[in-house]
Amino acid sequence: MTHFQYVINLKTYEESTGSRTENFMNPLSNKTYESEVKFALSIPQLHLATKFKSVISQHVDYVTYGAHTGHIIMEDLISLGVMESLLNHSERRLPYPIIKSTLERAKELNFGIITCSQDMAETEALCEIGAETIAYEPPELIGGSVSVSMARPGIIEEIAQLCREYGSKLLVGAGIKNRIDVETSKKLGAVGVLVSSGIVKSNDPFLSLNSLMI
Ligand code: G3P
Repeated sequence: MTHFQYVINLKTYEESTGSRTENFMNPLSNKTYESEVKFALSIPQLHLATKFKSVISQHVDYVTYGAHTGHIIMEDLISLGVMESLLNHSERRLPYPIIKSTLERAKELNFGIITCSQDMAETEALCEIGAETIAYEPPELIGGSVSVSMARPGIIEEIAQLCREYGSKLLVGAGIKNRIDVETSKKLGAVGVLVSSGIVKSNDPFLSLNSLMI
């Protein structure tokens, strides 16, 4: 059974960094919903060493132990209990060969990667190199008030079909703010959503999260 997945990306907003990160982690990361829902909180990198559960990284590098100043290695994340990361987010784009090497390394270590894609062509290229979970996020809609499910339903359907053919899972994100956005995404073939500003910048993040539950 595929669990519908909610990924809350805290990014590096003023509201979600520094001493405020923990305000999100405490109630959000330990929140339990019905068993058919999977929940992940993508937190600022400097806060990854945490006791809180369901935490994932916003970025990871393909290099292993060694002289790699400033890199985030999977082995170190795993040692902290962090078993998954976003990759190639629109705000942290990577060259294709780097994505490929990172996916290969992740497979070796059984580390989960949610690879972000901006369009159909990129999704196809990612499927071809074995991306197991793809997050389609049109960059022009990120942080805006019009959701991906309202603005790009046809593309979501096509991308979902493509992902099914390759055996990849599809999440969608950008501008998701309410239950209808989530329900529509699911209906169009997504198995989860990525949400940021609708929760992080909301006056009541927990109420906003609850309002997305389907
Ligand atoms: O990673 C999720 C993100 O890029 C979507 O952002 O603010 O449109 O929900 P937002």
